[in-house]
Amino acid sequence: MTNPLNDENANPFEIAKKAAQEIAQKTGVESHDIALTLGSGWAKAADLIGETVAEIPGSEITGFSKPAVVGHVGTIRSIKLPNGKHALVIGARTHYYENHGVRAVVHSVRTAAATGAKTMILTNGAGGIKPEWAGGAAVLISDHINLTANSPLEGATFIDLTDLYSKRLRDLAREVDPSLDEGVYVQFRGPHYETPAEVQMAKTMGGHIVGMSTALEAIAAREAGMEILGMSLITNLAAGIQSTPLSHAEVLEAGRNAEARIGKLLSEIVAKL
Ligand code: HPA
Repeated sequence: MTNPLNDENANPFEIAKKAAQEIAQKTGVESHDIALTLGSGWAKAADLIGETVAEIPGSEITGFSKPAVVGHVGTIRSIKLPNGKHALVIGARTHYYENHGVRAVVHSVRTAAATGAKTMILTNGAGGIKPEWAGGAAVLISDHINLTANSPLEGATFIDLTDLYSKRLRDLAREVDPSLDEGVYVQFRGPHYETPAEVQMAKTMGGHIVGMSTALEAIAAREAGMEILGMSLITNLAAGIQSTPLSHAEVLEAGRNAEARIGKLLSEIVAKL
């Protein structure tokens, strides 16, 4: 099946609306309140935040494609929270490095907004620049630097990105865990990890976390009017900060080791929304 997002003349918001209608139909849940994109290490949260009402392979929903990476989950889940709200959990993230275009990268966020979600929780596994984050720290994203040289916005769409990662939601997260640190996320294109020199550049520019997702999604979420909470699991110290080479296996292992802890943390934060 060809992806309608590849048709340049198609309206990506109409495609997101169609995807949202399909989700409503397949889950039986008319609208969702909160959406979560669960990156490396975060998948367990889906089991902890509430009762799964329905789970759909992303490939059955218009505009979504199969995940390219082992360790990434490709399903969309509707979860009923204990407080009665409905959460949409997106495991089917499309990364910028997959070369499907920026519309595909932000389709899940636009779809989440079209399902009614007013809060977007974006999580990822990432490299840490601060040595004290070694060993799998969960960190709040306070701001980002977008090094993809791209934007999900089309045309002269001028969007304010002040307080993009909501201070209100960061404060709420700290009510659950007052020890949560925060930092500036730097999105590189990937899929290669950064060179030590690039990590030093990111640090000089004011960055603390390096990764390959989230910033473009956050911009689209803001365009859609959602309030955003961003969280990174530091799966490794960034290249050159740690002395050993980086590997996807290390990232996955760090995710597995942290999974129960950060899943519980995220579920407690979601309960407060
Ligand atoms: N850099 C970029 N992306 C990542 C890293 C990293 O060090 N670790 C996990 N994802």
